[in-house]
Amino acid sequence: MANRLAAGVDRVRRTTQAPRPRRDQAPGIRPATETDVPGVIALDQDVTGLLKRDYWHDMFERYGAHPDATRIFLVAENAGRIDGFIVGEVRAWEFGSTPSGWVFAVQVRPGRRVQGLGSRLFETVCDRFRAAGVDRVRTMVAPENTVIHSFFRSQGMMAGPFIELEMRLD
Ligand SMILES: CC(C)(COP(=O)(O)OP(=O)(O)OC[C@H]1O[C@@H](n2cnc3c(N)ncnc32)[C@H](O)[C@@H]1OP(=O)(O)O)[C@@H](O)C(=O)NCCC(=O)NCCS
Repeated sequence: MANRLAAGVDRVRRTTQAPRPRRDQAPGIRPATETDVPGVIALDQDVTGLLKRDYWHDMFERYGAHPDATRIFLVAENAGRIDGFIVGEVRAWEFGSTPSGWVFAVQVRPGRRVQGLGSRLFETVCDRFRAAGVDRVRTMVAPENTVIHSFFRSQGMMAGPFIELEMRLD
């Protein structure tokens, strides 16, 4: 009985879990280059349904074209395809905040999710932030995006000390 139960659990696990890529098949994480921008645009369009060419070229110009310790644009590439990316920057003294790392965007290709790639991107950007000398990382999330909440919470992030305010200008 116990054996049959264990076999059943094992079968469900095998059929419901996406296969983890072997280590040598895992995409390499590296700084973005200009030739990666079309792949980033295409992945973002797949995920969000919006084509934002100018936005991503501008993001690359700001954070990827002249990478240094404080401006970070990383991609995860696998056989020439962009499977994920993350963008961040060290910012100091805005809103009275001490220097901290900010993550502006993180995305993983739907077929490659829940295999640890988002975590590897986040860990890599956090390593860069540590190397730049900051002791905390921040981001902003939309309240209804439960997946991104769950993801950042799983990385150890919790509610921060600031409250966002806004008003309409029309
Ligand atoms: C959020 C995102 C980057 C996560 O990437 P990922 O490669 O799947 O993340 P990981 O495999 O490293 O997951 C790490 C943890 O996040 C949480 N998580 C990830 N996907 C989840 C989901 N669909 N539901 C609930 N928790 C989830 C889990 O706790 C997971 O740990 P576990 O696998 O041990 O349970 C990816 O889902 C994504 O690109 N989402 C859309 C993009 C987006 O909304 N970006 C925010 C605006 S820039």
